[in-house]
Amino acid sequence: MTDNILARAREMDAADPLAEFRDRFTLPDGVIYLDGNSLGALPKATPARLEEVVRGEWGTGLIRSWNDADWIDMPRHVGGKIAPLLGAWPHEVIVADSTSVNLFKLIAAALEMRPGRKVILSEPGNFPTDIYMIAGLERQGLAERRLAERGSIAGALDEDVSLLLLTHAHYKTGELFDMAALTKAAHDAGALVLWDLSHSGGALPVDLNAAHADFAVGCGYKYLNGGPGAPAYAFVAERHHAQLAQPLTGWFGHNDPFDFTDDYEAAGGIEQLLCGTPPILGLAALEVGVDLVAEMGVDRLHEKSMALSEAFRSCLAAHGVELELVSPEDPERRGSQLSFRHENAYALSQALIARGVIGDFRAPDILRLGFAPAYLRFEDMAEAARHLAEVLASGEWQRPEFNCRAAVT
Ligand SMILES: Cc1ncc(COP(=O)(O)O)c(C=O)c1O
Repeated sequence: MTDNILARAREMDAADPLAEFRDRFTLPDGVIYLDGNSLGALPKATPARLEEVVRGEWGTGLIRSWNDADWIDMPRHVGGKIAPLLGAWPHEVIVADSTSVNLFKLIAAALEMRPGRKVILSEPGNFPTDIYMIAGLERQGLAERRLAERGSIAGALDEDVSLLLLTHAHYKTGELFDMAALTKAAHDAGALVLWDLSHSGGALPVDLNAAHADFAVGCGYKYLNGGPGAPAYAFVAERHHAQLAQPLTGWFGHNDPFDFTDDYEAAGGIEQLLCGTPPILGLAALEVGVDLVAEMGVDRLHEKSMALSEAFRSCLAAHGVELELVSPEDPERRGSQLSFRHENAYALSQALIARGVIGDFRAPDILRLGFAPAYLRFEDMAEAARHLAEVLASGEWQRPEFNCRAAVT
């Protein structure tokens, strides 16, 4: 049976229009990487590009490279390349700071744009940083946190809400929100909307402007393959650029940073989201990853990601494995991942890692497997499902070394 499953998977690989792109990534032998939703794999072109930036632009060009290599424009330039993946115009997206910091800037900006309304509405169990970033503003008396379960979010929108802050694809379950419907509900209540696209950008089509979204943020190190700690991106709809006022008024967000005046005057466009000196090495690495995603095309990536996760489920079923799926059944309603509930999810994930199948554990009981479509094969689905079936059947996950939770990767 295992042979049949593998043969079928190889047929699917042979028919996969994105198959050739796997070779554009560095993937260690003996590893099936089901964690590209957390840290994307290394594009083969990245080290050479970094070498060029470090040795040539930095080493030889020195400070001249701010102009000669156009370092100064990189946050806008790379943001402009990310924009089409999100259904945004190039001048609406910039690369800056981390997702957490961009959340802070945009939550604070929304509060200022809706005077008299202090409530930031989100859902319990949203990615922690999204909720934590409200806390600092709450402590300063500027904001008030309100959490409503996803089924009751529309009902929790009232005249006190300044901003609805949601993550499009849930980090634990992968469940997608209906971006257009919730954005409309928030607008009908007079609130603004900020979408965290960390688990969507580069994996599935997003159309921020079709949904009339106000703000968005997202990570550069997941499906965009920008590398560990890659800078993040932020979107502000053009219609808000004139009123936008964010609190991290660093010199790079100034209208003329090199005027060196005492008074802060925000840049007119998306550049006002910049704060300090942009991380050029991080931007250079991110650009390589973004270019690859653009070349593959987000629609094709989405199609493949749905096919991969469905293939994984059918391979599991063929092995007779029954696990509780906490992700939506319908692939159109989830991001590029499958999450299973199991009381020994941590030990299972460790036993899989010992076999070279790298997935994730999310406390308290979730085994989270990500299916980055850029470099995974259908053969990987068949093999990963076989490993999971064997780990469950053999009970090897009960070994003591898989059960002591020291550090969580
Ligand atoms: C949905 C979501 N938002 C934000 C973050 C964190 O972003 P950063 O560490 O860049 O601030 C993560 C990290 O995994 C995430 O999954």
